[in-house]
Amino acid sequence: MSFKRHHPYRKDDKARAQYAEVILHAEDFIYPLFIRSGVNKKLPVENFSGVYHHSKDSLLLEIENALNIGINKFLLFGVPNDNEKSIEANYAYDENNIVNISIEAIKKRFPSAIIITDVCICSYTLSGHCGIIDDRGAIDNDRTIDILGKIAVAHARAGADFVAPSAMMDGQVWAIRKALDKAGFKDTSILSYAAKYASSFYGPFREAAHSAPAFGDRKSYQLDYRTIEQSLSEIKTDIEEGADWIMVKPAHTYLDIIFRAHMNFPHIPIVGYHVSGEYMMLKCLSNMGLTDFTSAILETHFAIKRAGAHYIITYAAPLIAKYLKK
Ligand code: PBG
Repeated sequence: MSFKRHHPYRKDDKARAQYAEVILHAEDFIYPLFIRSGVNKKLPVENFSGVYHHSKDSLLLEIENALNIGINKFLLFGVPNDNEKSIEANYAYDENNIVNISIEAIKKRFPSAIIITDVCICSYTLSGHCGIIDDRGAIDNDRTIDILGKIAVAHARAGADFVAPSAMMDGQVWAIRKALDKAGFKDTSILSYAAKYASSFYGPFREAAHSAPAFGDRKSYQLDYRTIEQSLSEIKTDIEEGADWIMVKPAHTYLDIIFRAHMNFPHIPIVGYHVSGEYMMLKCLSNMGLTDFTSAILETHFAIKRAGAHYIITYAAPLIAKYLKK
């Protein structure tokens, strides 16, 4: 009688690596960074370990360090001061705002860095909502997408390679594509937050971006976690409207959605966002001595890639890139 050995996972680490079907590379990661108006050094964000509010100079240094370990994609979030917030979020598309100034500086120093910018107004509105609030207290979708178009053009003019609309307004990708083309930025790509669920895992980010809604929640414009088809149809619509890459967010809790997106739209790059709460959940576990942070982070990121993500937005990008270099 013969038998087949099918337990390669029992062997030592080196032998196990030969059987690995999923591989992570530093270029798979998109590293989110927060740039704060009016600060001259980096400041740690409270309750968000390893994440900082950067000044323009500390941002350049962080990017240089990341490039040195192979990370070449960055997602920028602007954090304006309270006096730069307004009802119509005008500061979001000011050519001299902190985001646009920083993009120019990065592109000048590090032309190979791929710069992706968050296009949303929640950090720039007094309401903290991702849409303009009308007289009745409801979100004005159409006025908002006009503003998103202006923000995208300002970022493209400063040198952004991708703009990433995250407001979940209807028609936002279409409005941004149209605005970019009209302004002559045909080569600026769009990474759309296509399937963005209303999630309880965004807490630490809202502290970092100063973007918590002043009232209500985001359920009227973010997806319900009990839905599947809705997110697939959002993805389809965004591709039709001109999205070049699409995002599933959060990633860790929504691996099935990443997988389905990958199966349904095999030709479009899928980006998973390992969000702030998912990251801090592992940090808390390791702070309690219940797991090793690096191991837990690696396992999670392999899972996101295994599900079908081509790229992963992650606060742990430097940690993993350093590990991969060893
Ligand atoms: C909103 C935005 C959010 C995140 C990225 N863009 C928060 C929200 O929808 O409230 C969350 C990212 C994270 O938690 O890491 N423009």
